Amino acid sequence: MESFVRFHDQHPPEAAGSLYEELLAGLSATPKHTSPKFFYDRRGSELFDAICRQPEYYPTRTEEAILRDAAPAIAEVAGRDATLIELGSGASRKVRLLLEALHPACYLGVDISRDFLLDSTRRLAMDYPWLEVHAACADFSRPMAWPEGLSGERPVAFFPGSSIGNFTPEEAEAFLEGLTALLPPGGGLLVGVDLIKDRAILDAAYNDAAGVTAAFNLNLLQRLRDEFAAEVEPRGFRHHAFYNEADSRIEMHLVSRNDQAIHVAGERIDFGQGESLHTENSYKYSVAGFRELAGRAGFEPRAHWTDPDGLFCIHYLERAA
Ligand code: AVJ
Repeated sequence: MESFVRFHDQHPPEAAGSLYEELLAGLSATPKHTSPKFFYDRRGSELFDAICRQPEYYPTRTEEAILRDAAPAIAEVAGRDATLIELGSGASRKVRLLLEALHPACYLGVDISRDFLLDSTRRLAMDYPWLEVHAACADFSRPMAWPEGLSGERPVAFFPGSSIGNFTPEEAEAFLEGLTALLPPGGGLLVGVDLIKDRAILDAAYNDAAGVTAAFNLNLLQRLRDEFAAEVEPRGFRHHAFYNEADSRIEMHLVSRNDQAIHVAGERIDFGQGESLHTENSYKYSVAGFRELAGRAGFEPRAHWTDPDGLFCIHYLERAA
């Protein structure tokens, strides 16, 4: 109907301050760590988009192929005229593969990266004039409520890209449990989950030859300079990513090339040579393992779809009555 976007700014006013505290707490901890959400300033979102086009990074193209093939089957379980809510909507590209088949009454993109969110949802609204498009700038890893004024018969959350892999399994379960509060019984969750596989494929996906993942990881330090007034030299660190088989997760680190101190708002943080800042975990699941986790969180696994090589899985879960 409308070819404009209804924007809901749900970024809490204290967000800047609490982000700051969260950042400093992680940098002062042992081992040092930061939440992956700090990657996503505008440049970080652009670099992530570029990662998705790298030949070694199989998740994006694999998930897109599954969505394309399974769209009619997904529409059958999820139903038409839903309120389709994408968590971490980024470029709002994957949802395009579903829109014709699913024909939701309305789409809400939720993302923490405000400018990127606005550009992406505006393009979506222009390309799908029949669709009511909303955008909410929010940190969906914290408790939130759907904004007012969404049309549709039942909410269906869409959480693609294996973003859920950024949580530990315990956090993922708590996150899904939190979502049940936003979904009435019969509401759905369509979630993309990266599968456990051969470590060579995993290691390559997070160490692309063009160095885009390295640039994405290192951009975190540039963002600390730009937005958090940090004194830090990105060239003093190197990208390190590997599969931790015992924990079924990719770990990304920024490793200090030498002994050095960085400063974040007057706080001095010392790094020894080889000491790392742990910037991301990306957990991988078996199909059965994820279904069990979802079940514990109050969802009934209804259907799932994988690619022929068993690289990636899309689950449709329904909020249990
Ligand atoms: C957005 C969390 C799904 O873990 O594969 C890609 C982020 N980090 N390359 C992932 C990421 C490095 C991505 N997720």
